[in-house]
Amino acid sequence: MMRRKPAAVAVAQLPQRMLVVAAVVLLAVVLAVAGVEAQAQQQQEHQELQQQQKQQGQSQQQQQQQSQQMPPWPQYRRFANRTGYMESMTFNEHPTIKWAFEVRQGVVEGSFAVSQDAIFFGTTSGMVHALDRTSGESLWNMTTRGPIVSTPCLPLLGQFVAVTSLDGSFYKLDAAHGYLAWRDVTGAAIPASPLLLQDDHHVAIVNEDGLVIMYDTRALHVSRVWTFDTKQHVQASLASDGSVIFVATMAGTVIALSQAHGMELYRVAVGGAVWSAPAVSNSLSMLYVPTDDYRLHAIPINDTADQWTVQYEVTSGYGSITPALDDNNTLVFGGWDFNIRGYNACTGGVIWSFSIGNWLFSSPIAGPGGAVVFGGLSSPVTFLNASAAAPTPARPRMKGQVFSSAAADANGTVFIAHRNGFVYAIEAARARGFADRGIIVVASIAAALLVIVGAIAFLLPPSLSLGPQ
Ligand SMILES: *[C@@H]1O[C@H](CO)[C@@H](O)[C@H](O)[C@H]1NC(C)=O
Ligand SMILES: *[C@@H]1O[C@H](CO)[C@@H](O)[C@H](O)[C@H]1NC(C)=O
Ligand SMILES: *[C@@H]1O[C@H](CO)[C@@H](O)[C@H](O)[C@H]1NC(C)=O
Ligand SMILES: *[C@@H]1O[C@H](CO)[C@@H](O)[C@H](O)[C@H]1NC(C)=O
Ligand SMILES: *[C@@H]1O[C@H](CO)[C@@H](O)[C@H](O)[C@H]1NC(C)=O
Ligand SMILES: *[C@@H]1O[C@H](CO)[C@@H](O)[C@H](O)[C@H]1NC(C)=O
Repeated sequence: MMRRKPAAVAVAQLPQRMLVVAAVVLLAVVLAVAGVEAQAQQQQEHQELQQQQKQQGQSQQQQQQQSQQMPPWPQYRRFANRTGYMESMTFNEHPTIKWAFEVRQGVVEGSFAVSQDAIFFGTTSGMVHALDRTSGESLWNMTTRGPIVSTPCLPLLGQFVAVTSLDGSFYKLDAAHGYLAWRDVTGAAIPASPLLLQDDHHVAIVNEDGLVIMYDTRALHVSRVWTFDTKQHVQASLASDGSVIFVATMAGTVIALSQAHGMELYRVAVGGAVWSAPAVSNSLSMLYVPTDDYRLHAIPINDTADQWTVQYEVTSGYGSITPALDDNNTLVFGGWDFNIRGYNACTGGVIWSFSIGNWLFSSPIAGPGGAVVFGGLSSPVTFLNASAAAPTPARPRMKGQVFSSAAADANGTVFIAHRNGFVYAIEAARARGFADRGIIVVASIAAALLVIVGAIAFLLPPSLSLGPQ
């Protein structure tokens, strides 16, 4: 009988107690589930990270193996086709300056050749500089006898630096120390950048008088393989599709030469003077030539008819930039109507357009997924995600103007030359979204806890509640 009363009390209190017990059990279960989930996620992340590291290790190995074969950006616009495309260059919302180097004499009007260890460039004071790629420290410098407005190239696995100067000479330098291997006097200033061919040892140049010279940089002494005299004034750098070299002249002619023998194959009239290198699409067999009558000509290779012509809506000036070509047949070009655009390289149709509020003097470079980088007059450097519906430009914190074209390394670091005499390395690597997922897990556990504590407070008898009675 005595046992009845506690039982009755217990029965009377049962619903509340059961609720509390149920809530505690629920809390425990939720916590356990959240814990297990967090652990699982952590494990997964750990595995992913390990896998990533493994992949990175593998790709690093591959990259190292490749890098022993080829520097990441061995010449002006990276490839002989002058497309200015780098697969490791991504869009970054917060590009930051990694290092800056002051060129104390002259400025850099050309762009950069990038090897595994160093970047190389010339200045208007006639100097060739080699800087450590990661720290920006000077490795060596040497002086030519005239201003340099072109970009060097790096033949023979980057062991040598080939330089053209307005002093009229072609230089072959040792990349490690800048020692002169040999020099060839061509008879006229050379504003155009040397062209490194796919075999990694033939280098073609063209001087202002239109003399095209093919060198074999393996030779210990000056070695001209062939020469071709276009007899026309030339400013623009040469481009190649692998078997044909294209010379675009100030007289408005594109001359196709056989790479092996320097024989003229055909010529195409483009109407306006060409100041900047044409670009080649190997996959489409097309040549893209910017001319100073505000047009971009798309010319089928081994043909003489323009397929399409882009006309800028402008009133003055000349087309001084080389278009970039990405891995998706998007041609990136800009003009005097203050816009930079992505064109369908097959049809010439506009895919995207972005107003830059000023002229574009700097040849853009492109990465995958619509990533574009270019210099400017209003803002020195702009990173753009052109495949976004409303592209938002990202700009490192700096002021002034950039005219020259950028270069990039295999880590996606971008090198640009500022008019203020500084060379900048801008970090453009994408950060991993690792922290975000951790935050989500913690936030879900916190939210679950809050709900449970709230439920317990609601279900507990009033005597135990914290509120006023
Ligand atoms: C490039 O990235 C690799 C890892 O992917 C790193 O080890 C290396 O230090 C980076 N180099 C530079 C110059 O940032
Ligand atoms: C050229 O390099 C030397 C050391 O190698 C350095 O002392 C000098 O300042 C450099 N000159 C310029 C203009 O950077
Ligand atoms: C340009 O040349 C490089 C190297 O030869 C090649 O990988 C790339 O596909 C070419 N680009 C185009 C658009 O054809
Ligand atoms: C263009 O013509 C040259 C010489 O006739 C030839 O070697 C080359 O393969 C041709 N290129 C194309 C894309 O047809
Ligand atoms: C390639 O371009 C087409 C349109 O030209 C676009 O629909 C597609 O998303 C692009 N792909 C990539 C990977 O950028
Ligand atoms: C660029 O924009 C596209 C389309 O909005 C988006 O899918 C992509 O994630 C963006 N890339 C970056 C790096 O922000």
